[in-house]
Amino acid sequence: MNVKETILYSVVIASIGLSNIYARRSVDDAIRNPDEVKIVMIGAGYVGLVTGACFAAKQYAVTVVEKDQRKINALHNRQIPFYEPDLVDLVDAGFRRGSLKFSDNIASALASAPHFIFLCVGTPPLPDGSADLTFVRQAAQEIGANLQEYAIVITKSTVPVGSADMVKAEIQNQLTLRNTDILFDVASNPEFLKEGEAVKDFFEPDRVVIGAGSEQVHTLMSALYRPFVKTNNQLICMNIPSAELTKYAANAMLATRISFMNQMALLADKVGADVEAVRAGIASDTRIGPEFLKAGIGYGGSCFPKDVTALADMGRQHDQPMTLIEAVDAVNLAQREYFIKRIFDHYNGNVAGKTIGILGLAFKPNTDDIRCAPSIDVMKALIAAGALVVAYDPVARENMQRMFEQEGIKGQYCFVNAAIEILHDADAVIILTQWDEFKRLPAQAFASLRDKVVFDGRNIFDPISMTSAGLTYITIGRNMPR
Ligand code: UGA
Repeated sequence: MNVKETILYSVVIASIGLSNIYARRSVDDAIRNPDEVKIVMIGAGYVGLVTGACFAAKQYAVTVVEKDQRKINALHNRQIPFYEPDLVDLVDAGFRRGSLKFSDNIASALASAPHFIFLCVGTPPLPDGSADLTFVRQAAQEIGANLQEYAIVITKSTVPVGSADMVKAEIQNQLTLRNTDILFDVASNPEFLKEGEAVKDFFEPDRVVIGAGSEQVHTLMSALYRPFVKTNNQLICMNIPSAELTKYAANAMLATRISFMNQMALLADKVGADVEAVRAGIASDTRIGPEFLKAGIGYGGSCFPKDVTALADMGRQHDQPMTLIEAVDAVNLAQREYFIKRIFDHYNGNVAGKTIGILGLAFKPNTDDIRCAPSIDVMKALIAAGALVVAYDPVARENMQRMFEQEGIKGQYCFVNAAIEILHDADAVIILTQWDEFKRLPAQAFASLRDKVVFDGRNIFDPISMTSAGLTYITIGRNMPR
């Protein structure tokens, strides 16, 4: 670039910067009065609905856009398509107050000139483990095709590093096709919502991560989230790639802790140690802390399995092997096989004709989500081997039943409405989700099992109480000799 070109280039960049600053002023003005802040959430899935309802609770005017008309109809009748404590009441309150609206029409939602547009569409895993960005791309194109005024477009969906650039390019392409020069900014604002505690996590976040390319966008996004944090230190601003990577790093770190403890548990079984004692021994070190160190049958759900493989894939794309992350995934899959093998070993490889009760189907308590749940693999292995499987879960039973029907699973199995129906007529019980109602069962509740054996994939009982009640109690990492 020669001197003349450099000066011209600087002038163009400066004028774009100035016009963006001017455009952002509309958002800056609105943010001073919560009810003037207009937000569009694209996607009424888990993240879009929770985020939209929580923003609406702080008086922001929120429109959740969803293509699926059935979902919209259900939401208008306050029916939430999944189980999440507190969400129904929150949606109902927002709806009554008028701060929460649902629409199947992105054009009319964007015609209201929202200040913030959140992308909350799904990013399911592709067969090679990478994240499928089809819905993100489509949503970005629709934003570009319908944007009327300056807005900040934020990716909240979990997307690989570089996705915000893709979103920006897709929007810009559409604006160019429309021959319009509407300004916009992009940002990344990953979610850290645990299923079952999502509303609480949103209202009381440990932190809010904001990735943006300019200080003004950081400031506007920080102002949006200010009602949700106690101190400004909880608003962590960074560039966009850092925010995108932070999401994967957080889930991968938590998954790593779980796989670490699961492998420790297998060694504990071999050397006569108790993994719970080891956990207490390390968790008391403030550098380590107690969270996400519970050994069990492995992590499931719609996030950890998908995000761990997507991170490994991201490493491959950038020629940076993520060997640790690949091992985390491998350990997690092996954990299920280990537990299934223990069940079969107990019966010398033959479970045919046995009635096996399953307590817990959801991938964790307080959710009806069965995606990547260990219960699926355990049940399928037992059914394929000729066992009669009788399963119960307080809220996930219907989802599992539907999935089994859709997959046309052949064999002997049924779903019952109460744990007691299993305890009174089974040879053995397998615990796969640590629901409180199971934790409250006394050891004597298992006394009528014909084979007097409990396989506990979540280590919820005291081994001494269980063995003292005459039961064989098979755990993950607590099978030390007594
Ligand atoms: C996870 C993260 O915790 C959230 O911060 C994140 O926003 C979310 O993924 C997401 O990416 O959307 P979630 O999948 O709802 O949330 O569930 P977790 O509570 O994290 O549990 C994940 C799995 O780990 C469950 O199968 C659970 O049983 C297992 N787990 C958890 C253990 O095996 N041991 C533990 O000590 C803790």
